[in-house]
Amino acid sequence: MEITFLPNTWNIDQVLDDLNEHGFAFIDNAYSKDYVHQLVEECTSNLNRFRDAAIQNGVVSKIRSDHILWITDELNMATQHVKALDEFSKILNQNFYLGIKQVEAHFACYNAGEFYALHRDNPQKKNDRVISAVYYLHEEWQEDWGGQLHLQDKNDHWHTITPKPNRIAMFRSDLLHEVLEAKHQRLSITAWLRSNDSVI
Ligand code: OGA
Ligand code: MN
Repeated sequence: MEITFLPNTWNIDQVLDDLNEHGFAFIDNAYSKDYVHQLVEECTSNLNRFRDAAIQNGVVSKIRSDHILWITDELNMATQHVKALDEFSKILNQNFYLGIKQVEAHFACYNAGEFYALHRDNPQKKNDRVISAVYYLHEEWQEDWGGQLHLQDKNDHWHTITPKPNRIAMFRSDLLHEVLEAKHQRLSITAWLRSNDSVI
């Protein structure tokens, strides 16, 4: 099953308005049940390949405790989502002249007790990340399982966003945010829409 164009559940005009006004937006019910099911299957069958996100080049960070797997072509289902974000980047470029050239993405798994403390994905515009897009792919999420995305919008208002299944949360990569401690396994794909095609 291929997503060859953007699903019609994506309310593009609303997303563009929200990004413009608040610096963040949601897309709920992003994909079909069949696709979600296969994506969850792809994610969970590869969990043994996920690595500690806190360890980068041998350096251990204390601000995050999730586990990640970078998405490459071999992960067919996840690649479909990356392609949809690529299509969406063209619309963002046409409307906001963002100069997005590439999408990079990884699966993320937060087990019970794991979190990601306050950070920006692009502090002081030090990298080429323009927009962050997090897709929640677990099949169920209950309010008392925590794991919310807590985000400061471009007008300095804070929002607590539930990682609702089949939701995409999109936000400017320079905004401050955190992932509150999850009390249950939380699965997602984090993607960055980048203005440069050389991946760090
Ligand atoms: C990240 C991040 C938010 C989320 O991966 O950089 O902030 O809700 N993720 O998973
Ligand atoms: Mn982040």
